[in-house]
Amino acid sequence: MHIGIDRFGLSTPHLYVDLREVAVQRGDEPDKYTIGIGQDQQAVTPSSQDIVTLGAQAVLEFREDIDMDRLGLLVVGTESGVDSSKASALYIHRLLHLPSSVRCMEIKEACYGGTGALMMARDYIVAHPDKQAIVIAADIARYGLATSGEVTQGAGAIAMLISKDPHILEIHDDSIVHSEDIQDFWRPLYTDCALARGKYSTEKYIEFFNDVWERYTQNYYVTLDNFAALCFHLPFSKMGLKALRTILPTTSEETQQCLLDRYQKSVYYCRRIGNVYTASLYLGILSLLDNDSTLQDNDTIAAFSYGSGAIGELFTLTLVPGYAQYLHSEQHHAILDNRQQVSVEEYEQIFTDMVPYAADDYETNKDYHHGSFILTGVIGQERQYQRM
Ligand code: HMG
Repeated sequence: MHIGIDRFGLSTPHLYVDLREVAVQRGDEPDKYTIGIGQDQQAVTPSSQDIVTLGAQAVLEFREDIDMDRLGLLVVGTESGVDSSKASALYIHRLLHLPSSVRCMEIKEACYGGTGALMMARDYIVAHPDKQAIVIAADIARYGLATSGEVTQGAGAIAMLISKDPHILEIHDDSIVHSEDIQDFWRPLYTDCALARGKYSTEKYIEFFNDVWERYTQNYYVTLDNFAALCFHLPFSKMGLKALRTILPTTSEETQQCLLDRYQKSVYYCRRIGNVYTASLYLGILSLLDNDSTLQDNDTIAAFSYGSGAIGELFTLTLVPGYAQYLHSEQHHAILDNRQQVSVEEYEQIFTDMVPYAADDYETNKDYHHGSFILTGVIGQERQYQRM
């Protein structure tokens, strides 16, 4: 049975800040951000948006392709959950008017949560071949103003419709996994900003990649030449490149150049949005598919998922013949091109105006709102969502 991604949906806040301007404010060289880290712009999330509104918005892109009689599962992978108990999937379920017969839940393991959700959905379709599942990977990456992680913030969601005989990508049952309890990045329960051992986290990312890559190639008797492209979890666009460079010398210069060209296509959206944690790998895959016209039907892509804490997983996907007609590339470019730029001062104000970690009532700022779903505030410790 062929199981995989039948449709993609993308959403990101309507606001962004230019990272060259942030660099100047922080006393850094702009080239450090745009070349050294590889990020140009960063999504800025107004208080009226969170992973629920972003996730629901991403599903709207393929809402008409969902067969409500077949939909059986909705899983949200996120590390920006809005409640320690209730799944964000349930808020999204109501906002999208999904049937009550759908199982709804949320999965957490740092940036790996999107892949965890995807693998769960794949297994669900193996057990229930006639069903459909929705996977949403949604996150708001926050480290804090003037921290070393600030340049690697971002926000957005990728939604995927999973079914048998998919129209875009077949997901193979070939994962190679590396799990290990390490303290490279974490977020204590009392804060919405992550803590990271930055350099250590980048070293562990590469170490985990090298381990799963070596085991994958040995297990399945393949080399780099078997893949049309490699897509990576992208905390920032240079990160995947550092990992890719460790294995490039194993192939010809011509193949190296092709893989590097396609790598640049895969990071195009990341450079403009930033880290979207659970959604980053899938944003990278979508960026590659939307922006590379040299890929062919039946090409195979290797995907490396990394979630701090940490787990690394390598698996592969194959392009389904005719996949290109099921993409919404122009719509995705329009989402990015039509965003509104904010100044560094505005970004800082918006960044600090968030739902507080307190029992007080709170009203979000509607001035910057854009999109079909809104968080209007918190009343009596309950979040208030509306469809616009
Ligand atoms: P930093 O200390 O600010 O930066 O931290 P740096 O001094 O290491 O410089 C970065 C690069 O810019 C270096 O290049 C410099 O040489 C270069 P590299 O040696 O890395 O190739 N550079 C310049 N280049 C051109 N012109 C210049 C210039 N100046 C310097 N003028 C760091 C950077 C990424 C560590 C920091 O931003 C951070 O801590 N970020 C958060 C953690 C992170 O993203 N880790 C990634 C791996 S862990 C992961 O992926 C999981 C995660 O997504 C979370 C999850 O799983 O949930 C984070």
